[in-house]
Amino acid sequence: MSACFGRMGGATLVSKDYFLTLNINIALLIIVIFATQKIMGTKVKPYQTEGSKKEQVQQMFDNIAHRYDFLNRFLSMGIDIGWRKKAIKMLAEHKPKRILDVATGTGDFAIATLAIDPEEVIGIDISEGMLDVGRKKIIDQGIKKIRLENGDSENLQFEDASFDAVIVAFGVRNFENLEKGLAEIKRVLKPGGVAMILEFSKPTGLFGVIFSIYNKTLLPLWGKLFSGDNAAYKYLPESVAAFPEGDEFKDIMKGLSYNKVADRRLTFGICSIYTGLK
Ligand SMILES: C[S@@+](CC[C@H](N)C(=O)[O-])C[C@H]1O[C@@H](n2cnc3c(N)ncnc32)[C@H](O)[C@@H]1O
Repeated sequence: MSACFGRMGGATLVSKDYFLTLNINIALLIIVIFATQKIMGTKVKPYQTEGSKKEQVQQMFDNIAHRYDFLNRFLSMGIDIGWRKKAIKMLAEHKPKRILDVATGTGDFAIATLAIDPEEVIGIDISEGMLDVGRKKIIDQGIKKIRLENGDSENLQFEDASFDAVIVAFGVRNFENLEKGLAEIKRVLKPGGVAMILEFSKPTGLFGVIFSIYNKTLLPLWGKLFSGDNAAYKYLPESVAAFPEGDEFKDIMKGLSYNKVADRRLTFGICSIYTGLK
């Protein structure tokens, strides 16, 4: 900063470079805010082809399943593991014995619950490709308490009031019908049971600008290179931008009569943990 300032006759002069840098930063901020506003509330699908969001999401995760775990670790620099751990630590307060992990994917959130010693964990997902990777992990690690099944969040194959906790990590953003999925989660929870949802949110301030630029440039580039799916890691930031976060998401949960709805922002707001009781 000192290079940008000079002193002349007791008055501080600010150099042209400083104003140029400031103007570029403000312009970038306006572009990011404008792009985010434009996309918010729209239904974002992975591919520019026919087919429902659900069909396209399933196809996309089948395509990238073989690289999903690697890309998660690589693109988040391992921070995603800490987010799941933090959520499970919060879940421990509720002492859940029977847990449903919706949109379980390759099973990482389900596996993380073993730290709090549940009796039974069921993971469901619409992508057989993701489930296959998860099942292999469970067998390789000799895990007996977790079962992974094909299932749709918007039409859960379980009785009313059958779980102490329902958890979802980075899944709700992909639902075709968010409210239907959240209503189904509440239906299968026991009275007093907890819904815990981990989802990306949008960091604000200068970090938000840097993060948004990373999301629009490096993230799709690495994603395309390693997963072989051109659209998947372009869809990720677009679906985050379109997703209702913070108070807006909590209002949806409250509208479905969840009690004690709360959220906690992690890592400058890149990720949020939402909780609500039945
Ligand atoms: C980003 S992955 C998250 C996987 C895992 N929960 C994790 O923490 O890594 C999102 C998953 O949501 C699944 N999904 C999307 N829509 C779904 C739905 N309607 N019902 C069940 N799973 C769904 C996808 O197939 C995908 O495996």
